[in-house]
Amino acid sequence: MSAIIAPSVLSADFGNLQRDIEMINNSQAGWFHVDIMDGVFVPNMSFGFPVMKVLKEQATKPLDVHLMIVDPDRYIQRFAEHGAHVLTVHYEACTHLHRTLAEIRKQGMKAGVALNPHTPAALLQDIIADCDLVLVMSVNPGFGGQKFIENTYQKISDVKNLILQKNSQAVIEVDGGVAMDNAARLAACGADVLVAGNTVFSAANPSAMITDLRNSIETVNVSV
Ligand code: DX5
Ligand code: ZN
Repeated sequence: MSAIIAPSVLSADFGNLQRDIEMINNSQAGWFHVDIMDGVFVPNMSFGFPVMKVLKEQATKPLDVHLMIVDPDRYIQRFAEHGAHVLTVHYEACTHLHRTLAEIRKQGMKAGVALNPHTPAALLQDIIADCDLVLVMSVNPGFGGQKFIENTYQKISDVKNLILQKNSQAVIEVDGGVAMDNAARLAACGADVLVAGNTVFSAANPSAMITDLRNSIETVNVSV
C-alpha cells in the first residue's frame, strides 16, 4: 500500500459537510482524520457523535479518530459503535494506558497513542508493542492551521527507532502543519500517515492538493 493522506474533517465546511465528505471519498485520500476535542484536555471543542454518525453513513474510507479528551475510556465503546477504525488516545490523558489500548482492541479497533510536542518518544518504551499507531503531534493540539514544530522530524525518527528496536508493528502518523514543503521529509523520517487539514481545505482544489501531497511522498508500506 502507498503512503496515506488523512484529511482532517476539522477544517471542512460544516455547512457543506456532505460535499466535503464526497470530495474525500472521491480523492486519493486513504483515511478520514476525525478530531474530537472536549474543551478540557485542549482549549477548544470540536464535534461529537452527531458528526460521527454522518461520517459512518457517508464516508467510504476508514475513520481515523483522534481523541483530545480526558478519561477517554468512558467513550471507547461508543466510538466503536460509531464506526471508528483507528481510535487514538493521548499519552498525556491516560493513567492506565495499557488497559485503555487493550480495551480499544477488544472493541475491534486499531489502538493509537498520540504524543504532545513535549512528550518524548522514549516514554513509549514499555507500551510500543501494544500500539497499532503512534500519532506524533507536530503542533500543540486544539486548533487547525498552526505552525509546524521543527523538532517533529527528530521525534519521528525516535519513534521509528523504538518501533524497530521493540519489533512493534505500529505505524507512525504526523498531525499538524503538514504541507507541501514538509510532507516528503516527514515521510523520509518514517511517517506512514500524514494528516492535513488547512493545507487541503484552504486549497483552491482540495482534491488536487491531496493528490499533490500523495505524489510528493515516497511509497512506503503501511498495514493498519
Ligand atoms: C489539531 C488536530 C489536527 C488538525 C490539523 O489539534 O489534531 O488534526 O486538524 O490541522 P492542520 O493540518 O491545519 O494543522
Ligand atoms: Zn488530529
